[in-house]
Amino acid sequence: MKKSVKTFLKSAAKDHVARSANPAIVRASTIYFKTMQELRKHQKDISTGKKVKYWDYGRQGSQTTIELQNILKELEEAHEVFLTQTGFSAVALAIMSVCRPGDEIVISDCVYRPTQKLTSQLLKEFNIKTNWYDPNNFDDLKKKITRKTKLIYVENPGSNTFEFQDLGKIVALAKRRNIYTAIDNTWGTAYFLKPIKLGFDLSITSATKYYSGHSDVMAGSLAVSKKIYKKVWWYNHVSGYRLSADDAYLVIRGIRTLDLRMDKHHENTLRIIKWLSKQKKITKILYPYKTSTKDYKLWKKYYSGASGLLGIMIKSKSKSSVLKFVNSLELFGIGYSWGGYSSLAVYNDSVEMGNRQFFKLEKNHHLIRLHIGLEDTNDLINDLKKSLRFVKP
Ligand SMILES: Cc1ncc(COP(=O)(O)O)c(C=O)c1O
Repeated sequence: MKKSVKTFLKSAAKDHVARSANPAIVRASTIYFKTMQELRKHQKDISTGKKVKYWDYGRQGSQTTIELQNILKELEEAHEVFLTQTGFSAVALAIMSVCRPGDEIVISDCVYRPTQKLTSQLLKEFNIKTNWYDPNNFDDLKKKITRKTKLIYVENPGSNTFEFQDLGKIVALAKRRNIYTAIDNTWGTAYFLKPIKLGFDLSITSATKYYSGHSDVMAGSLAVSKKIYKKVWWYNHVSGYRLSADDAYLVIRGIRTLDLRMDKHHENTLRIIKWLSKQKKITKILYPYKTSTKDYKLWKKYYSGASGLLGIMIKSKSKSSVLKFVNSLELFGIGYSWGGYSSLAVYNDSVEMGNRQFFKLEKNHHLIRLHIGLEDTNDLINDLKKSLRFVKP
């Protein structure tokens, strides 16, 4: 009988040879072979896609990275998972594996700022055109597709603005038009949403965030479908994007408690939102919690839970008073890389938002991104209450 994901995460990657509860950290550049014949046979096995327990050279990884790949492959229900040294290199690996000069990419307006830059600036230099679509308008996505479209790239929910899209409809459209699909699934992780099962070809997760969960490591994961596997394998082979054994170990250590942390982030966030929604200074909360909204319905249709990242909109004529609110928070650190155990806050301006065509903040409105950590929610609410007093009308 298939075990629950909660049990699987606790029982995977045990080292039965060394009898240790965790896998060894195998650091290696050189990997020894007894004979040249053995080396060549192993290389042939690797190039023909045979499942191996070790590689022919350290750049491909070690037993530790193979263990993490195995865990993520099962969690993602993917054909294969590639590991990279940051989440953003998983974004680059996905896009660069697929797009070639003359191609076009259709991408939602709400993607992570560095992804915006990669597609609008770097791809342009390779004669790959980027067409942006409104994440709240499926017809706009349809309109942006041309005969040259190779890839539809989605981030769900949108970076900083948290729009939810109809993922099933996007996949169905792409399949009809023979276009590959990619999704940045860092917000929900494969614990709450399994994009490859849903029909996406590429699913990116910054493992820096919830997978590792402790704000002490950078890592990325790219889960792929069978259909696209060879393309990604080839680009990965020639790119040199890799995760180190030490970092892979830290992700394995963190991911054991992914289920517990994600459930708690969700629970804490709903408690905080219950309080936030009663505060007059907050005009909107960007998170799937109001059952009557379109975003809630789209979230509910595909996700089994929600994480700890949300946006709050504050109305005030005084930007400095809103900045004071953020600066005076004591339990919310000011900084990036949400997904760890602690709470964070960032005042979003053009640095975070980039060039958005389909999102405009109303005058005197301010957007703050909060990450709700694993602290006691009473303490977090007291902190928010104390600091919100600084916001002037
Ligand atoms: C949605 C999303 N995708 C990808 C990344 C990139 O991940 P990393 O910081 O591990 O490179 C981030 C980082 O903040 C992100 O928010």
